Amino acid sequence: MHPFLPGAPPDGANGPGGRLMHRLRELMPQRHVFEDASRFRSIERIGGGCMGDVYRAYDVKVDGLVALKVSRGTESSRVSFNNEKRALTRINHANVVRLLDSGVFSGQGAFGTRQFLVMNLVEGICLKDRISMEGAIRWEEARHTLMQLCDALSAVHDAGFVHRDVKPDNVMAGQGIATLLDLGVSERISRKNPMRIIMGSRFAPGNLDYTAPEVINGRCDGRTDIFSLGMLMRHMLSGKAPLNDMWLYGSVTGVPQDPILRDADIPEAQSAIISRATEARMDSRFQSAEEMKAAIEGV
Ligand SMILES: Nc1ncnc2c1ncn2[C@@H]1O[C@H](COP(=O)(O)OP(=O)(O)OP(=O)(O)O)[C@@H](O)[C@H]1O
Ligand SMILES: [Mg+2]
Repeated sequence: MHPFLPGAPPDGANGPGGRLMHRLRELMPQRHVFEDASRFRSIERIGGGCMGDVYRAYDVKVDGLVALKVSRGTESSRVSFNNEKRALTRINHANVVRLLDSGVFSGQGAFGTRQFLVMNLVEGICLKDRISMEGAIRWEEARHTLMQLCDALSAVHDAGFVHRDVKPDNVMAGQGIATLLDLGVSERISRKNPMRIIMGSRFAPGNLDYTAPEVINGRCDGRTDIFSLGMLMRHMLSGKAPLNDMWLYGSVTGVPQDPILRDADIPEAQSAIISRATEARMDSRFQSAEEMKAAIEGV
């Protein structure tokens, strides 16, 4: 039996790509399969969201372990995969996931085709899981992670993109290295001036809790990511996920103190960085990732 035909045994031992076929079939009501996934072996699902599933796999072509992201085949996942590919092709930084290859699995019948991205496999767990398991992160470690994320954002902005979905699920943190993932809702911005607002974002991130208010009106620039990094910093230091509430405090309503910062007893210097990064007005925030990094480094 051909290892990729319906009914083939699911395990890697039964043929390269067999496990991926099994996983894909599990997700799909139709028993259609892809015939061209044989380069991927020992496949194991490690994550996924609305746009696709992410697998750890051995890639014969790359000759090593990789992260394989396979699209859901919907129109929005097609846009998301194209966005991610467009951005990652132009970004090369130690704190941003690297795109190694991309392609399309050709399906049969109604199954259609599925885009895939091959990325370097980042070991460790995402920050969201880390905080859920262990609670607030100590300042020394948080500081190190945040500084690396500022570097990652500088690289994204310098390449002419705004990430637009900086949140703990999109950051891997292992062995002292933070890696920014998921450029699926990234937008092109000016390379010369990453802090010049652009209009007309095609689609918004699924989770708005870390998202700056201007995104609601389809506006964004590099400062949109500064806001989200401020929200992520607040979550790291307090251990509490945001309730899409940050911009209600301070400049919008005049309420003087953010209760999450107050209750978590976050020191004044760190609170001031969070408050500045998450100002509702873009002009009142840090004006670049470098500027935010310098403030963090100074504490
Ligand atoms: N290169 C990688 N190395 C290790 N794990 C990864 C990698 N890429 C993604 N993951 C894991 O898969 C999860 C989902 O990845 P990603 O955020 O890129 O996909 P997504 O479909 O856009 O998800 P969502 O819609 O939930 O944001 C991540 O949170 C992470 O746990
Ligand atoms: Mg994601």
